[in-house]
Amino acid sequence: MTGKSAKITQRHLDAASAVLNWYDSHRRHLPWRAGPGQPVDPYRVWLSEVMLQQTTVATVRSAFAEFTRRWPGVADLAAASRDEVMEQWAGLGYYARARNLHACAVAVVNDHGGVFPDTEDELRKLPGVGAYTAAAVAAIAFGRRAVVMDGNIERVAARWQAITTLLPAAKPEIHAEVDALTPDHRAGDFAQAMMDIGATICTPARKSKGRLSQPDCDACPLFETCMGRQGDPALLPMKKPKTPRPDRFGVAVVAEDEAGNILLERRGDKGMLGGMLVFPGSNWADGTPAQSRYPLEDNQAAKRLLEGGEAVTLNGNVEHIFSHFRVILTVIRVKPASGEGWLKVPKNELSGAALPTVMRKVARLAGLEAW
Ligand code: ADE
Repeated sequence: MTGKSAKITQRHLDAASAVLNWYDSHRRHLPWRAGPGQPVDPYRVWLSEVMLQQTTVATVRSAFAEFTRRWPGVADLAAASRDEVMEQWAGLGYYARARNLHACAVAVVNDHGGVFPDTEDELRKLPGVGAYTAAAVAAIAFGRRAVVMDGNIERVAARWQAITTLLPAAKPEIHAEVDALTPDHRAGDFAQAMMDIGATICTPARKSKGRLSQPDCDACPLFETCMGRQGDPALLPMKKPKTPRPDRFGVAVVAEDEAGNILLERRGDKGMLGGMLVFPGSNWADGTPAQSRYPLEDNQAAKRLLEGGEAVTLNGNVEHIFSHFRVILTVIRVKPASGEGWLKVPKNELSGAALPTVMRKVARLAGLEAW
C-alpha cells in the first residue's frame, strides 16, 4: 500500500517497545514459530501464513501438522502432484490457494534453487504471494523490516490511534500507523505480537445478550499509549454496513454407471473451485429456484446424462456459503445410459478425491458418503 504516512512520535516508539517486551514473555507457542534464538524455517513460515489467511489458528494447527509431516520441506511439496496437495487441502476452502501453494513450491525449487527469496519484492513475484504474505514472510522468516497488516493488526492499530474512518476506506490511514509503529529491528516479532494481542486481548467486539464484549485493556501492553481507550474501543474499527449475500441456484447430477463409478468433471483452472473435481451440473445462476428448474441447458453433456436414465430429484437441497454468495443446489441422482467422456471414480474411493466441501455435501445428500 502506498500513499499515506504518519509521523513517528515518541508515543509510537514507546508503544513498539512495550509490544516487543510483552511478546518476550507472552507470545503464543505455535508450531510454526521458532523459539527465541532458534533458526526460522522460511518454508514453515510461508506455509502457515498461507493457511492462516483463511482459517483460524485452531484449524491451522492440525492442517499444518499434516502438511509438514507429509512434506517436511519445500522440495517435498514441489515433488508432490497437484492433486495430492488439493486433496490434503480439501476442507480448508479457497482452493485457488492450494493450487498456488503447489505452484509456489515448484517455482521456489525451479527458479530459486529451493531457497525462498528473502525480500518482499522478490517474494511478491511468487505464485499466490500477495502483499500480506510477502510482508509477513520477509519480516518473520528473514528479519526484514516490513509492514504487516492482517485483520488483527488492523483492529489493534485502529483502536490504538482511535481511527473512526469507516473500513475499508480507513485502510491507508491504519496502514500508515502500523508503518510508523513497526520497528527497524524485530519487525517479525512485532507483527506476531500485534497478532497475538489482537487474538487474545484486543479481541473483536461480539454481541452477546445485547451487549458488546470488551477488549481486556488491563492486560494490554498498549494500555499506556492507546487513544481508543479514552472512548469505547469495542466500537472500533467501524465498518461500512455489508451488502447482503445474494443467493444463486443450480443443479448437481450424481450419476453412477453400471460398474459403480461416480461420474465427475474437473473445473478449469480459472475461477471458482478451479482445478477441483465436481459433479456434472449447471452454472450457478442468480434468480429464483423456479427460474433455475431446468438450468442444465447450459451444460448439454450433463443434460444428456438424464436422458435414457432413470433420474430422481432428491428431497432437500444442498446449501453452501461462499464469501460473496450462497448457493442452493438441487441434486438429481441418475443411472445414465452411458458414462462416456466423464472422469470416473469408484463410489468407495470418493472420500479420497479432491472434492470441495460443497460437492461433499452433494455426495452426502445423495447417500454416497458418511462424513
Ligand atoms: N495469523 C496469521 N499469521 C499469524 C502468525 N504468524 N501468528 C499468529 N497468528 C497469525
